[in-house]
Amino acid sequence: MISVRRATPDDATTVHGLMRGLADHQHQGSALTVTPGKLKELLGQAEVGYLIAERDGRAIGYVSWLERTSFWSGEDYLHLDDLYVAAGERGDRVGERLMHAIAAVAAGRVIRWEVAEANVGAQRFYERIGATLITKKIGRWRP
Ligand SMILES: CC(C)(COP(=O)(O)OP(=O)(O)OC[C@H]1O[C@@H](n2cnc3c(N)ncnc32)[C@H](O)[C@@H]1OP(=O)(O)O)[C@@H](O)C(=O)NCCC(=O)NCCS
Repeated sequence: MISVRRATPDDATTVHGLMRGLADHQHQGSALTVTPGKLKELLGQAEVGYLIAERDGRAIGYVSWLERTSFWSGEDYLHLDDLYVAAGERGDRVGERLMHAIAAVAAGRVIRWEVAEANVGAQRFYERIGATLITKKIGRWRP
């Protein structure tokens, strides 16, 4: 049975393992430098959200986000950070379940995220659930 639940600081090791799965999938293993200890701290912060999808109690995917406010509208929104379903579990609507679960948390607030131009499978998935995708370049600067 598949279920979705909110992660707590006690899930830090599980969360780290799931994020390792996404980082490896994206060939960005070396970019995942956060420790389970730091994740434990982050998961306790009010503006941080993390939902774990489980199949019979085994973690198989997640969606994570940060609560933010738009200066332009003055409204709060959710910045979706990651969406991930383990390779062997894809195509079973787990991703869709996670998106509907974050939508329930958003309770009317807008959800925003980024998706790589090359990730056409995910783009198709997002459009299928009714999201709008616009093309933008992402700035990055460490002065
Ligand atoms: C995108 C993702 C979260 C969708 O999760 P999911 O549980 O497979 O979602 P669904 O079952 O609703 O399937 C929808 C899409 O997933 C993809 N998919 C389906 N089965 C798949 C499989 N066995 N392997 C890979 N992708 C698959 C397809 O693109 C499918 O869209 P389609 O039905 O239009 O072809 C998942 O494929 C994933 O984790 N991908 C790797 C990480 C990623 O790209 N995350 C998004 C970053 S922005």
